[in-house]
Amino acid sequence: MEAERFTIRSVRNPSHKTFVDLGAGYGRIIADLVAIARNVVALENNPGMLEELLVNWGFHPKVTVVPEDITAGLSQAVTDSDVRNPVFISAQNSLGTVEGPTEGLLKQLRTQLHLRQGELILSLFRQESLRTWGLRFYDGISEMAGPVDLQKTDVEKGEFVSQTGYRSTWRNKQQITALVEYLGGQTIDEIWAPEFCVLHLGPPWRRSELSLIPFLSPPDSGIEAMNLYEGC
Ligand SMILES: C[S@@+](CC[C@H](N)C(=O)[O-])C[C@H]1O[C@@H](n2cnc3c(N)ncnc32)[C@H](O)[C@@H]1O
Repeated sequence: MEAERFTIRSVRNPSHKTFVDLGAGYGRIIADLVAIARNVVALENNPGMLEELLVNWGFHPKVTVVPEDITAGLSQAVTDSDVRNPVFISAQNSLGTVEGPTEGLLKQLRTQLHLRQGELILSLFRQESLRTWGLRFYDGISEMAGPVDLQKTDVEKGEFVSQTGYRSTWRNKQQITALVEYLGGQTIDEIWAPEFCVLHLGPPWRRSELSLIPFLSPPDSGIEAMNLYEGC
């Protein structure tokens, strides 16, 4: 996506920074990262994706591939890897497709951003476009994601589900705003299109003891607001 590329290229002093690719897939954006970064840490836990990621990037001197579930082991992976001035990246709506508890990932991400005064590039698909652009998009990648399951997909709630069980949550503007509020950083840059947004957040990161995070699940699901105490 050109907007993601533009945002990656706009990071200041990238040669002093580690780019942490959250759910790196087969490494789609890694060529753009290695071109400018000090180094890249690519986190992925899907066996098929990992295999491709290792073939594509496993031997690059600037890239470390870490097989890790980011909902459970993000903080440990960042601590164990060579990470300096991190720029975390969640590209192509990876946050909406995370397998496992998204709140686990967000809590660790928020802690790491605060501790290390890092940056975050968040590329999200927007619920407002799932019915139109989104369903066409998934039609185009149905060989990979599987054909749409019309019984389980709920475009009003921003939930895409395929017949092979692939799921993706598309957040509305209100949920995205709440997510940014929860993370607590400053907006360095933002690109909004009807279909997606790419946000670049950075320090200073604010801390709060308790946050309401209504963005975790779609509205009207009955569990849209969760109280999360920050344990760290
Ligand atoms: C939508 S894809 C995007 C891949 C890549 N970031 C890109 O932009 O092309 C999301 C990726 O996140 C990975 N993923 C999902 N849940 C994960 C988890 N709990 N831990 C690590 N990776 C995860 C998936 O296997 C998939 O490769």
